[in-house]
Amino acid sequence: MVGSRVQLAKAGREYKACCPFHTEKTASFWVSPEKQFYHCFGCGAHGTALRFLMEYDHLAFPEAVEELAGRLGLPVPNEGGGDAARPRDASLYELMARVAQFYAETLKRDERAERYLTQRGLTAEIVQRFGIGYAPDAWNALLKRFGPGERDRQTLGELGLIIERERSQVRDGEQHYDRFRDRIMFPIRDSRGRAIAFGGRVIDRGEPKYLNSPETALFHKGRELYGLYETRLARSSLKRLLVVEGYMDVVRLHQAGIAYAVATLGTATTAEHLMRIFRLVREVVFAFDGDRAGRGAAWRALQHALPQAREGREIRFLFLPEGHDPDTLVGEEGREAFEKRLESALPLSEYLVRELSAQCDIAHADGRARFAEAARPLVHKVPEGVYRELLLTRVAEVVGLAPQRLQALWAGGEPSAQAVQAPARRRPIRSAGRGSLVRQAVVRLVRFPATAGSVTDAERAGIDDCTEPGADLLRALLDDLRERPLKVSAQVLERWVAKPGGEHLGRLLEREEVLDEEAAAAVELRAVLVKLADTVLERRLDALLAKQAATGGLSEAELLEFQRFMNRKADRSR
Ligand code: GTP
Ligand code: MN
Repeated sequence: MVGSRVQLAKAGREYKACCPFHTEKTASFWVSPEKQFYHCFGCGAHGTALRFLMEYDHLAFPEAVEELAGRLGLPVPNEGGGDAARPRDASLYELMARVAQFYAETLKRDERAERYLTQRGLTAEIVQRFGIGYAPDAWNALLKRFGPGERDRQTLGELGLIIERERSQVRDGEQHYDRFRDRIMFPIRDSRGRAIAFGGRVIDRGEPKYLNSPETALFHKGRELYGLYETRLARSSLKRLLVVEGYMDVVRLHQAGIAYAVATLGTATTAEHLMRIFRLVREVVFAFDGDRAGRGAAWRALQHALPQAREGREIRFLFLPEGHDPDTLVGEEGREAFEKRLESALPLSEYLVRELSAQCDIAHADGRARFAEAARPLVHKVPEGVYRELLLTRVAEVVGLAPQRLQALWAGGEPSAQAVQAPARRRPIRSAGRGSLVRQAVVRLVRFPATAGSVTDAERAGIDDCTEPGADLLRALLDDLRERPLKVSAQVLERWVAKPGGEHLGRLLEREEVLDEEAAAAVELRAVLVKLADTVLERRLDALLAKQAATGGLSEAELLEFQRFMNRKADRSR
């Protein structure tokens, strides 16, 4: 597996190479096929095949498992579904791949299409990297080639590649025609690089300028990001993603060396897009054209981004000069100047303030009141936490009120005298806490024993097989408190004084700096349990995959376990 990504040289029973995770001239990266493990003596990177896929291909955990299991011939459940992959889908993917290949080959034989791409400044290398092709100028090129039989025709239809004619329009006995004709074809690929849809651009003029595949069994446009696969393939270490509007923008940016550009597919950025983005990176910059349409799109993106905003994430907005898009701009000024612009992109909070103050005249009191009114629903879209507090503080500053006073006003008309005078509520600062996940869970249980009551059976069951240090103590404590609830820490310490692990509890409590509120602690406790359950799954799947790779065979019981774990994982991501 590693060998397909890195040039390996045999060295005894192992292999070595220059480390893909840091820059070096002599090989200090070792791979042991026997142990299914890699290790770099230079930078300390190490892990299993699964870890390698996550680090090197920038795959999220579930995608890495799917990829690896697929390679090893293990059955994988469908994205989002619990069943094993449907054979029907396999044939859809396969036909899609053949069609993409056909378009790519057609491009090489069509001088006009090739000339167009050259005119637009694309190199042959980038055209190949993105698999760009050309749909011939004919009503039945795909039909002739891929749809001679009734069944094939039906498949082409399901993929949105052909369209059925109205009865009265039937010509030459042919009931269907190709959707894409005389267009430059951009294949849209999923996280594994499989073509799942196309975007087609007219050459020169024509309507519509871009034609996209419809939604199909393989393609949900609110979920996909054009260029994400190619971004991961570029495998520069991925720190941020740049979200732009067009296909051409993505391709041109990649060609210029900005290989972390992706585009939404003619839709606004959805919550689902953002979740995918933040599984990969913690920083995202949205770039918009400077015109009216661009501003509208930016404001919509902001609305969707607010629920995803939180401490540790960076969301910024870049507005390009009028008359430019990323494609023309990077062509004109090159990578460095363009990346400089990225550095100066507006943080979400500043964009929000700027936009609202442009709408309300904040030089006057009633303008500031309108500003506050307009900001309220936006601030409330941000999940509770440090980031929301900061945003609130920023808005309060513009309005000219103390943050508590603004909050009180928002909470319900004129605040009571008490609300205004009450000392600021202690904020649940620094969620998550410190130390291992087990420690975080135990600390919260001891500090707020009643939080045990909010843990569901499923959450408790998720840590059954957890082998992290301290997991025994966590399970015992949690079960005990669920069965015989206590209210305050002192009672917990008293009950546990003579039990195994009891001596740790007092010390944990003394040293724990984080004193959040009980409600917040309960939420955090449950989040930590879910994370722990994920690590259990990850470890076990990792071990099973390694065994399959090393020995080529899992026992019946292990196969069943694998399936069970995959399904649990699928349930969870739903
Ligand atoms: P070029 O003219 O090739 O540089 O295109 P562009 O990428 O600059 O396109 P533009 O800014 O006009 O549009 C941005 C994106 O909106 C495109 O990449 C498409 O995804 C989408 N889009 C543009 N025009 C159309 C259209 O006519 N129909 C549909 N469905 N989508 C479009
Ligand atoms: Mn353009």
